[in-house]
Amino acid sequence: MSESSKPTLEQAQQDGKHIRTIRSFVKREGRLTKGQAAAIDKCWPTMGLTHDMGMLDFEAVFGNTNDVVLEIGFGMGKSLVEMAKNNPQLNYIGIEVHKPGVGACLMDADAAGVTNLRVFEHDAVEVLADCIPDSSLTTLQLFFPDPWHKKRHHKRRIVQLDFAENLRRKLKVTGVFHMATDWENYAEHMLEVMSAAPGYKNQSTTQDYVPRPEHRPLTKFEQRGHRLGHGVWDLMFERYE
Ligand SMILES: C[S@@+](CC[C@H](N)C(=O)[O-])C[C@H]1O[C@@H](n2cnc3c(N)ncnc32)[C@H](O)[C@@H]1O
Repeated sequence: MSESSKPTLEQAQQDGKHIRTIRSFVKREGRLTKGQAAAIDKCWPTMGLTHDMGMLDFEAVFGNTNDVVLEIGFGMGKSLVEMAKNNPQLNYIGIEVHKPGVGACLMDADAAGVTNLRVFEHDAVEVLADCIPDSSLTTLQLFFPDPWHKKRHHKRRIVQLDFAENLRRKLKVTGVFHMATDWENYAEHMLEVMSAAPGYKNQSTTQDYVPRPEHRPLTKFEQRGHRLGHGVWDLMFERYE
């Protein structure tokens, strides 16, 4: 849809349509390095996915029927590429709005020679709604989402009840939503929202947090955090219906 043909918020509301106005990110126009730009030119034709492709057929996208893991907000993509490299038996889709992050991820993916990774440069909420089939994902990953520290910004946190419900629909039954954060107040918020969300079972035996699973790579930032005594909380919730 072109900008001029898009309904205004007011028109849409008069038509009884819901337009999402609160977003979990602020678009930063960071500059691409030469390496990132070159990686986008080289890899986009094979690894890039766009929102206007509509609902995806994973078998056509990956050329196989392997299980699909989707990561929301992969940042520079370091841990996503590492996971894709370590698990060639799985397919990975990453979604990020920050273009330099997409470039950095493609640069790493190219260097690592991974073939089981595809990326979107788009809002994950829209990609999930419009491009990801229901009951199709084995795992959904959300690592260190923007914590929106100030109380008046908490509504921007991506983990909310309606988000949890939309994600659940995309997971296969027994599929897992895996979150990690280094911000205790956000960890508590995630636990509260996810415990209230219908159709999920907490995989923690103590009904709160789980130890970092081996398959989630430890980031440099986390290693430093550990030395400084900062905490990291992992949460894993399984879809049971
Ligand atoms: C704090 S960073 C963490 C990045 C990475 N997961 C890591 O652990 O280093 C959060 C990232 O989520 C991205 N993000 C936030 N909301 C998003 C959305 N709705 N769709 C796609 N990306 C989003 C931001 O652009 C940012 O790069």
